[in-house]
Amino acid sequence: MDAQVLSLMFDDLETQGWSARSGLFPAPLCSALYREALERREAADFRAARIGQGAARLEVNAMRGDEIAWIEAGQGTSAGADFLAEIDILRSALSAHFFLSLNAYEAHFACYEAGRFYLKHLDRFQRNQDRELSTVLFLNPEWTHDDGGALILYDPQENDRIIAEITPTLGTFVLFRSGDFPHEVRAPQRSRYSIAGWLKRTEAWRAAIDGLMSDASP
Ligand code: OGA
Ligand code: MN
Repeated sequence: MDAQVLSLMFDDLETQGWSARSGLFPAPLCSALYREALERREAADFRAARIGQGAARLEVNAMRGDEIAWIEAGQGTSAGADFLAEIDILRSALSAHFFLSLNAYEAHFACYEAGRFYLKHLDRFQRNQDRELSTVLFLNPEWTHDDGGALILYDPQENDRIIAEITPTLGTFVLFRSGDFPHEVRAPQRSRYSIAGWLKRTEAWRAAIDGLMSDASP
């Protein structure tokens, strides 16, 4: 992980609550992740994405049209496992710097075929507040603005005001506060690959920390 880019991203998070920069992860890792996404898609490992959690879980293509494949830690020598290892370093650094006590991460590859999109949404669920920071790593070599598929971030206060239009080029990495920033994925002109993930502070972890804190108070 590039220390200079990391420090710029920390500054961005501190001043604006989001950051989008390239060069945080090594280029060979990003290319390997792209190849792995293509291979897993070829192997029919991707499934239509769903909305919500538990009983509210729905497969609604009117809202989102991507196909996803979750990245699991136990996938041996895969690029996905290398990515999770990198993210774990990022998680520790963010936790220490922002006093966030992040304890978990989940992520999936996503593919939006031409014309597919994800309408404006928040990544934090109403019933489950675990998600603190959203991460998106883009995996599209030779992608230009004309290929579409931008990730649009909206102002947390003024929900109709666009604050960023991010082109999903290979290696660009985005971080934003999951509960604050509405965002959407615009339809691309050709297949668009990314890894969407969430740094979390789980319920059990929060309860444990609260327990420790109250034990420690006089
Ligand atoms: C999501 C999401 C953005 C992207 O999956 O919640 O907003 O560019 N993804 O893949
Ligand atoms: Mn999202």
